[in-house]
Amino acid sequence: MKSTIHINGNLNGLQDLQPATGNVYVIIDKNLQHLAVHFKQFPIIIFEGGENNKLLENVSSLASSLLEAGADRDALIIGVGGGITTDITGFTASIYKRGVKFAFVPTTLLAQVDASIGGKNGVNLHSYKNILGTISQPEWVFICPELLRTLPEDEFKAGIAEVLKTFILFDKQMYTAAVEYFSQVAQKYCNREDKNTTYGEIAVEHNLELLTQIIGKCARYKSGVVERDEFEKGERRLLNLGHTFAHSIEKFTQGKISHGYAVSIGMVIAAKIAQAMGLAQHGFPEKLAQDLRSCALPALLGEHPATAHLTMGELAGAITKDKKVHGSNIHFILPKGLEDVEDILVPITEINNIADDLR
Ligand SMILES: NC(=O)c1ccc[n+]([C@@H]2O[C@H](COP(=O)([O-])OP(=O)(O)OC[C@H]3O[C@@H](n4cnc5c(N)ncnc54)[C@H](O)[C@@H]3O)[C@@H](O)[C@H]2O)c1
Ligand SMILES: [Zn+2]
Repeated sequence: MKSTIHINGNLNGLQDLQPATGNVYVIIDKNLQHLAVHFKQFPIIIFEGGENNKLLENVSSLASSLLEAGADRDALIIGVGGGITTDITGFTASIYKRGVKFAFVPTTLLAQVDASIGGKNGVNLHSYKNILGTISQPEWVFICPELLRTLPEDEFKAGIAEVLKTFILFDKQMYTAAVEYFSQVAQKYCNREDKNTTYGEIAVEHNLELLTQIIGKCARYKSGVVERDEFEKGERRLLNLGHTFAHSIEKFTQGKISHGYAVSIGMVIAAKIAQAMGLAQHGFPEKLAQDLRSCALPALLGEHPATAHLTMGELAGAITKDKKVHGSNIHFILPKGLEDVEDILVPITEINNIADDLR
């Protein structure tokens, strides 16, 4: 099923998506309770966010709350929050009474361009991420960049790498526009006089129209890929650009680096591997690293304190256990240049050899 994506610079329009009365239940991240005013006519269930709460126990408690509130098989469950809230809301709704409708109002950059789109819903099992889940599409996703105003620095920047990843894959022009935009925001943030000003506030106020365009295009590229390849048999794999090494970095740093920062470093490693294989366009890994740095993202191991001790050899070793390994080969997404990315089945030994030679 295809979800409808609504992109609005402001919250006008959200009301139109909600029936005046009826069977609607809203799950909101505890930190975003002030948004409850936009859903006045419906029961609100507060979810205490955090990766450690993305667990089956909380699916049970959300389902109990839905049951108590009277949600039946025709209910619509709206998840309001970052990727944690949208993932657990989607999962709960997709199994509650064998599946009810759900929709999202994503409130982090990462959730607006990535997590809320594509229908992957799930929770963690102990410390293993997204082990339990479903693929089931939301009815609609309402994306409002104005909501990002309150996002702190790390939470905002966590989404930038995914934006740039999408544009590397599909849109050179938007890549350049986004790098310029996020570099300017990074500079403004650095030079801000009032230290209480949030990253999100600067990003939203810099040029809301362009930010809305960046987020909107990115969300639509992802949803287009998902429509063509919902179950990740081919094209959807491209969205894993930078993720093979990112997951390895995340594993070794045990939560000390955000997924977005790890993806940033992972994309540069992938570009360097493309270069070592003689595939990358001249100077592309260096350009990419420079662009990411200008957006205040780490580009190389060591540029984020949590990665100071890591070696390429260690990271490559751990990849053998990655879920995308098929026998002795791995699907590796190689960025050769902008709009020039290839999904190649590479022998693991080759990745290990190349990694040993890389810094
Ligand atoms: N389903 C998918 O396809 C997919 C894709 C990528 C990531 N994810 C998942 O997304 C999760 C990460 O999502 P996230 O980075 O959005 O994390 P998150 O939901 O934990 O949000 C990050 C923090 O920001 C706060 N927050 C959210 N919106 C805010 C706002 N507007 N203003 C101020 N604070 C706000 C939250 O309370 C939280 O403390 C991970 O669990 C990951 O597995 C899923
Ligand atoms: Zn990601």
